[in-house]
Amino acid sequence: MKFETIKLKHTIIPVKEIRKKSKEFYNIIKNRRSIREFKSQSFNDNIIKNSILAAGSAPNGANLQPWHFVVIKSKKIKKEIRNAAEKEEKKFYNKIAPRAWLDALKPLGTDSDKKFLEEAPILIVIFEKKFSIKKNIKIKNYYVKESVGIATGILISCLHYAGLCMLTHTPSPMTFLNKILKRPSSEKPFVILVVGFPEENCKIPKFATKKKSIKQISTWL
Ligand SMILES: Cc1cc2nc3c(=O)[nH]c(=O)nc-3n(C[C@H](O)[C@H](O)[C@H](O)COP(=O)(O)O)c2cc1C
Repeated sequence: MKFETIKLKHTIIPVKEIRKKSKEFYNIIKNRRSIREFKSQSFNDNIIKNSILAAGSAPNGANLQPWHFVVIKSKKIKKEIRNAAEKEEKKFYNKIAPRAWLDALKPLGTDSDKKFLEEAPILIVIFEKKFSIKKNIKIKNYYVKESVGIATGILISCLHYAGLCMLTHTPSPMTFLNKILKRPSSEKPFVILVVGFPEENCKIPKFATKKKSIKQISTWL
């Protein structure tokens, strides 16, 4: 099959330099932590735009780019999201969640209070697009969850690298987000990314700082 090609833009640098850069990146990314106490301090929109563009460059199934990012700055919408999320989370913590799940969450100290959804300056809701519509034709997307997961990882890495803090929040279920944000039923909320600066004396669970060793997370053959 014939397809159009263009020359790859890639500069090969010395391996010593590659090794140094990989260590530099690890030293930056290992300090990323989920936070739950945010300042209201806002920041330039271009930081979010650049990070979304970085996310949009992610590898993805058949380059169909099955994602949509909704950026929320509106106090009114943030309040609506908080109210709806807390309603679901109260049900989750008090009725739905199995004992084992609640036990796994214990060291994080989380509960149904989601004040960060109103306090943080920016919420980014990432949607998975199950299919797209082009000229009235339904186009199925492939490997949607994998693609959106990778894009979200790049978004988080870019925001952290740039100097911001975040929480990946997933109230369960999240269907209320389609209604509040007026997104079509072909889209499914993936995560809410709560973005901003940490509150003065922001505390994090010590448990979250304990990461597995290279031996535990990899096999070399
Ligand atoms: C898919 C996903 C969903 C998450 N949902 C929540 C959530 O709803 N509430 C919360 O407080 N943290 C949530 N987290 C954050 C995790 O608790 C956190 O990433 C984990 O404890 C490790 O801590 P760290 O991010 O500081 O390394 C979520 C993380 C992921 C990846």
